Amino acid sequence: MKYEIKVSKTQQSQLPNLDFNHIPFGKVFSDHMFIADYREGEWQDLRIVPFQNFSLHPANMTLHYSQTIFEGMKASKDVNGNPLLMRPEMHAQRLNLSADRMVMPNVPEDLFLQAIHELIAIDQAWIPPADMEGSLYVRPYMFATDEFIGVKPSDTYKFVIFTCPVGAYYSKPVNLITEQKYVRAVNGLTGEAKAGGNYASSLYPAKKAHEKGYDQVIWMESPEFKKIQEVGTMNLFFVIGDKVVTPATTGAILRGITMDCFKTILKDKGITVESRDIYIDEILEAYMDGELKEAFGAGTAAVVSHIASITHEETLMTLPPISERKIGNMLKAEIDGLRAGTVEDKFGWLTKINVGVGA
Ligand SMILES: Cc1ncc(COP(=O)(O)O)c(C=O)c1O
Repeated sequence: MKYEIKVSKTQQSQLPNLDFNHIPFGKVFSDHMFIADYREGEWQDLRIVPFQNFSLHPANMTLHYSQTIFEGMKASKDVNGNPLLMRPEMHAQRLNLSADRMVMPNVPEDLFLQAIHELIAIDQAWIPPADMEGSLYVRPYMFATDEFIGVKPSDTYKFVIFTCPVGAYYSKPVNLITEQKYVRAVNGLTGEAKAGGNYASSLYPAKKAHEKGYDQVIWMESPEFKKIQEVGTMNLFFVIGDKVVTPATTGAILRGITMDCFKTILKDKGITVESRDIYIDEILEAYMDGELKEAFGAGTAAVVSHIASITHEETLMTLPPISERKIGNMLKAEIDGLRAGTVEDKFGWLTKINVGVGA
């Protein structure tokens, strides 16, 4: 279905103020945003407008009860300057899984995709060129808009998409500690959803870890704190011998789209990848045997975030130098290459933005 999206363009583009060589992550916003309002059981007033503030009633339900979900993906330009998206339909589907869990309305997948295409077509000049290795971060999100005090699902919502240009994201190798007291999620809670509250509750343990000199925590399953879940806001991979292992997503772990890409690429290259329960004892044993070759986080922002060390209780595991890490470096190069159009899109993950639309 083709939706009618009303477009009003900015009179004053902020693009001339952007220095593509120095873009602070998440602080610069492109000229336009998409907004839809959910009222009386349907999405209404679909519009692309100049980037602007909202005005919120003090009793806005999101501010009190956190009925809010989001997605994060990237638009890039290939070496010929064509704007591309990678697996946007997976993000649409995950947004709706999050919506179901948080008793929020679904956004029809075709509306989600059309809105992103039209928005990016209008702001495509904000996508850094392929040789700069940056991208346009796309943030779709939905939040409750009822003005009401009392815990219940809101009857009205806003679905919004804005975009931020981001530079090449080289995360330095991180030093991690296994979390032994706090949890990010347990089966049955909202860990599988990309719900705002999950991130709020992760801040305190992360702050405690920073105070002890670590960059982030490895989330473990309570109450034993032995089974490994995720790292910060990324899925986790280990290379043990010639095998790659990643925790199975069985209820408490976000089903990362980067993780899914990695599993497909690894299988395609004939590398064994296992998605299963992983306990810290197995990692300690592999380390003692000299078999723990790599560990890395996987997520949209950094693609691969190499792990320099993991501390578990009294044991510090220092991993091999990054230059020796074949798997993590290969996976990052594959994803970056796909986004730049220099690696063949053999799985059909890339979608070209039709720049004629709405421009
Ligand atoms: C908790 C959490 N885990 C994993 C991921 C990685 O997911 P993706 O690869 O879809 O970005 C993210 C980021 O979205 C996240 O917030």
